[in-house]
Amino acid sequence: MRATITLLRGDGVGPEVVESAVQVLNSLGHDFTFQDAPFGIAGILTTGSAFPDETRRACESSDAVLLGAVGGPAGSTPAGSPRPEAGLLALRKHFGLFANLRPVKTYAALVDHAPLKPQLLQDVDILFVRELTGGIYFGPRQEPPEQFDKESSASAHDTLVYSACEVARVSRVAFEAARQRRKQVASVDKANVLASSRLWRQTVEQVATEYPDVALSHQLVDSFAMQLMTRPSAWDVVVTGNMFGDILSDEASILAGSLGMLPSASLNEGTFGVYEPVHGSAPDIAGQNIANPIGTILSAAMLLRYSLKLFDDSLRIEQAVEAVLAEGARTADIANGGQYVSTSEFTQAVIQKLCA
Ligand code: NAD
Ligand code: IPM
Ligand code: MN
Repeated sequence: MRATITLLRGDGVGPEVVESAVQVLNSLGHDFTFQDAPFGIAGILTTGSAFPDETRRACESSDAVLLGAVGGPAGSTPAGSPRPEAGLLALRKHFGLFANLRPVKTYAALVDHAPLKPQLLQDVDILFVRELTGGIYFGPRQEPPEQFDKESSASAHDTLVYSACEVARVSRVAFEAARQRRKQVASVDKANVLASSRLWRQTVEQVATEYPDVALSHQLVDSFAMQLMTRPSAWDVVVTGNMFGDILSDEASILAGSLGMLPSASLNEGTFGVYEPVHGSAPDIAGQNIANPIGTILSAAMLLRYSLKLFDDSLRIEQAVEAVLAEGARTADIANGGQYVSTSEFTQAVIQKLCA
């Protein structure tokens, strides 16, 4: 199959883990054209923008985007520059990528060394559906003044706004997904305090009437954060607003073994998507060839599934990752203090499995 994939390698470990995923994609024997475009700090340093126009055009001319991560330590961009993270938000908004799918599962090979008791980790298979283009990330805001006295009345604010139609469309993605899975949706909100959450809850209730075959429960975010650790196998599809989904998915990565393990797909109504690991640029380990590439390799598998409809190849990649873990290969973050292999060695092991 022919397809054009734009690579936004980004910052920190981004280029290392994207390289792994590209090598895995290249081993499948398709006619993929990869085009690189500057994003994040590289975009700021070359054009002054974290999401330059040329990068937007490259993404527009491709079937899908594979992204590493953005962001760096203080001082990595000139004073007064935009934040690299602003480029990511602009990308998501530009393409209307309102549905962010973040699957979380445990691997039998990793359960014994996980931070949680092994008996809790049987049959954990959760799909987070995070709203990605609304909520507090995009509401009206007031930045703090450049300088202010700690005793002054200087203030700053962010605003959490949701409209019913925004909630309804992401809820439908969750209910549709649940129909293909265990037919349960948990909607996470803070309806005991927030007006926007009361709108969220009422909207999800209305959408649920279209899906009588799917069971819906409402969970308050604070107790859900706790229950995610105490009964992780109880959850099927979890639908949340933008910020709660951001936080809960990092928490849930503990169930998989490491933040480096989780993939994501950011989708609009069509087949275009941006695929990226859940983790960030991990400046503390960047440039050492020790980052876990699994989150990005599995993001590439999601790209094949959702944008290119290459279902068999997608599954093959997921099975190859699982098989390599089952044989004992570990990157440093999941080695539990024991022996580990490099990013590129782990990647080669996955490719060997695919080609076997
Ligand atoms: P992070 O996700 O980059 O790292 C958190 C911890 O997890 C670190 O200890 C890191 O070493 C570890 N880690 C992350 N990915 C790993 C991997 N693949 N393999 C092994 N270990 C891994 O979060 P942070 O340190 O809070 O943020 C760093 C920068 O990344 C910030 O600028 C932040 O804004 C940005 N960020 C970007 C994205 C994105 O581009 N999608 C996502 C989250 C954070
Ligand atoms: C993520 C990241 C981003 C988010 C940041 C870097 C803007 O944490 O994709 O999870 O908060 O959405
Ligand atoms: Mn995050």
